[in-house]
Amino acid sequence: MIRQATFTVEPWSLRETSLDLDLLAQAESIFALSNGHLGWRANLDEGEPHGLPGTYLNGVYELQPMPYAEAGYGFPESGQTVINVTNGKLIRLYVDDEPFDVRYGELREHERVLDFRAGVLSRRAEWVSPAGQAVRVSSIRLVSLTQRAIAAICYEVEPIDKAARITVQSELLANEQLPVQGADPRSGTVLERPLSSEFHNAEGTGVVLVHKTQASGLRVGSAMDHLIDAPAEVQVDARSYADGGVVAATATLEPGQRLRVIKFVAYGWSEVRSMTGIRDQVWAALSGARQAGWDGLLAEQRAFLDDFWDRADVAVDGDTEVQQAVRFSLFHILQAGARGENRPIAAKGLTGPGYGGHVFWDTETFVLPVLTFTAPDAAASVLRWRQSTLPAAIDRAGQLGLKGAAFPWRTIAGQECSSYWPAGTAAFHVNADIAHAVTSYVDVTGDLDFDRGTGMELLTQTARLWRSLGHHDARGQFRIDGVTGPDEYSAIADNNIYTNLMARQNLAAAAEAAKRYPERALELGIDAEESASWRDAAQSMFIPYDETLQVHPQAEGFTRHQAWDFAGTRADQYPLLLHFPYFDLYRKQVVKQADLVLAMCLLGDAFTAEQKVRNFDYYEPLTVRDSSLSACTQAVMAAEVGHLGLAFDYLGEAALMDLHDLEHNTRDGVHIASLAGTWIALVGGFGGMRHSNGTVGFAPRLPEGLTRLAFTLMIRGRRLRVDITHTAVTYLLADGEPLEILHHGVPVPLTGTKPQVRPVPAIAARPRPGQPPGREPAHRRASQEAT
Ligand code: BGC
Repeated sequence: MIRQATFTVEPWSLRETSLDLDLLAQAESIFALSNGHLGWRANLDEGEPHGLPGTYLNGVYELQPMPYAEAGYGFPESGQTVINVTNGKLIRLYVDDEPFDVRYGELREHERVLDFRAGVLSRRAEWVSPAGQAVRVSSIRLVSLTQRAIAAICYEVEPIDKAARITVQSELLANEQLPVQGADPRSGTVLERPLSSEFHNAEGTGVVLVHKTQASGLRVGSAMDHLIDAPAEVQVDARSYADGGVVAATATLEPGQRLRVIKFVAYGWSEVRSMTGIRDQVWAALSGARQAGWDGLLAEQRAFLDDFWDRADVAVDGDTEVQQAVRFSLFHILQAGARGENRPIAAKGLTGPGYGGHVFWDTETFVLPVLTFTAPDAAASVLRWRQSTLPAAIDRAGQLGLKGAAFPWRTIAGQECSSYWPAGTAAFHVNADIAHAVTSYVDVTGDLDFDRGTGMELLTQTARLWRSLGHHDARGQFRIDGVTGPDEYSAIADNNIYTNLMARQNLAAAAEAAKRYPERALELGIDAEESASWRDAAQSMFIPYDETLQVHPQAEGFTRHQAWDFAGTRADQYPLLLHFPYFDLYRKQVVKQADLVLAMCLLGDAFTAEQKVRNFDYYEPLTVRDSSLSACTQAVMAAEVGHLGLAFDYLGEAALMDLHDLEHNTRDGVHIASLAGTWIALVGGFGGMRHSNGTVGFAPRLPEGLTRLAFTLMIRGRRLRVDITHTAVTYLLADGEPLEILHHGVPVPLTGTKPQVRPVPAIAARPRPGQPPGREPAHRRASQEAT
């Protein structure tokens, strides 16, 4: 674990009080700015030193061949990898000819602050050049949440003790040199020189560049313009070349005099628009930014965030670290999805090249629940992206001999990018995860246009897949054999309960939608026979149960497998996937990440309270949490079955995954789904929030470490505020039409702005189950430092 001692704990920001060059890459991910369309890693303004330079555009990738030693039918042969596009962050500084480089001279002070309310990353440094010239440098950067093509930087420099000649050189740079990647398969590949120049021009204080990716044929435009201001004469010149452009401003400044450069950067890309079309598009975006001006962009950013926090904030009393972490998480989730506009949210958002920039089931299962309740338009936008990839998913299903759509395990543009392997190719649950996100979105928002349009099409094509993938056996039970569930340490198993339950919900929801919208059903080619077959399959879905152990096996036969030798596994052999062969993991009882426990979390009604208790206790000692997706789910179920202390520990793990770099790979980008898990653990775990059939219910219960938990949710266009202490919970409808919610299963009518207070019933504590030795979550002692 890398605890960044230099991060201070504050409720509304993340502050790094000195620069640790060994942790540069981690900080670049953590401080990354994005709006879902464009992402800037937090590389230092001057570009060097860096951990990993990164500028990403959602949907811009390069194709790469996927060679196999032994090919097989249906193996995907071409992969998509996110690329580092033109770097517009660069602002190099020269002090009397010496480049500002923190590795040389003396760095007297260095501070960076990410402000969750202002939506900016600011930096302050005091540096003495090797020749003894001291300067004060400050920069504020933003990636605009209101103008999606735009990022901007306000950069200021002033000499401290004596006059100095200062040159600020602002750049656009394509195909920058990247460091060599490590061997961890989760890091993703970094492509060298992915862009070919098509156009470059410099004029006045502006530069525009257009490039094209070679194999994927995507056109990327970037442009910058500047406002330059100083109390002395400033010499400005600009030039461009195939892979870049530079605008330099030079002035001789007296101590206390400040050179200020405001840099506006615009990005655009397209797979169809012409070179001139893209060039003009980025110019137009720049002109919009110039019109708003720096102050205007700052004001728009704050207004956008004020609005977000008013419907999404989570307040936590009793643990300042968790308080900071949940706002940090929400900030990154918003950044990942706010302006994606029918594009996906990748596992790392736009904060790094981890997992090749691919999107997994993580998005629908972990990120969309948060967005559905806090920024519902962003959730709908991701699902519309899935809909736009249906042609590829339908082709893939055809290739696999199946009906409907087989959505990819990992992708950027919609095609399957997982080379053949049992966990990816057979992980069909992604289809039901998408369907689950559709039904949840409609359930919570009541968005009927979406339901009838995008929602119904996704439900239909995924239901068709399940109907063709499973079959009725001689006893009439509907079985889905040979699939991989969420736990990637088991593969190609029969009747994975998570998959079967999620498919059951998918099939039933599709049949219901066909009934609701008969004309639309006709359009989608659904006849009475087909929807009846979905209903039959759902009703006769086989859910295995181990009568002897009185628990649900994760998949048929799982509980009969040999247990993993946990006692003989050393702490440094985790994650197991890097130290043991998959075939051995597959045939033993060892769980990478919540699977049956996730089924209990998402589809709780399918289990009795006693079954939940027994199942949870059974899977705890087998679950190693080699995926960051696990802790939050375990937190929710631990809270539900009465292990509040354990739930608190898991909350801590989900919340600090990136801030403490618990998986040692935050350098490659933040774990967006685990960040979402912080909210899930709090709202779903300690708020006990569940929803179904149009009703949202709560069963609040706080762990000892928290004294209060308060959150706001958007439900059917209204803001609901929930405020929980150890003894009582207050529900307040902040606006909108009356709403009925459930408190521990009992209806609570909410009208106007009249709060309703209900007692929090005590929950019987039960003996804490053990985890595999060495894999116990860190015991969370609430952090109470004053800030
Ligand atoms: C997990 C998957 C997840 C992927 C990307 C893997 O380690 O096992 O469930 O989709 O990471 O986050």
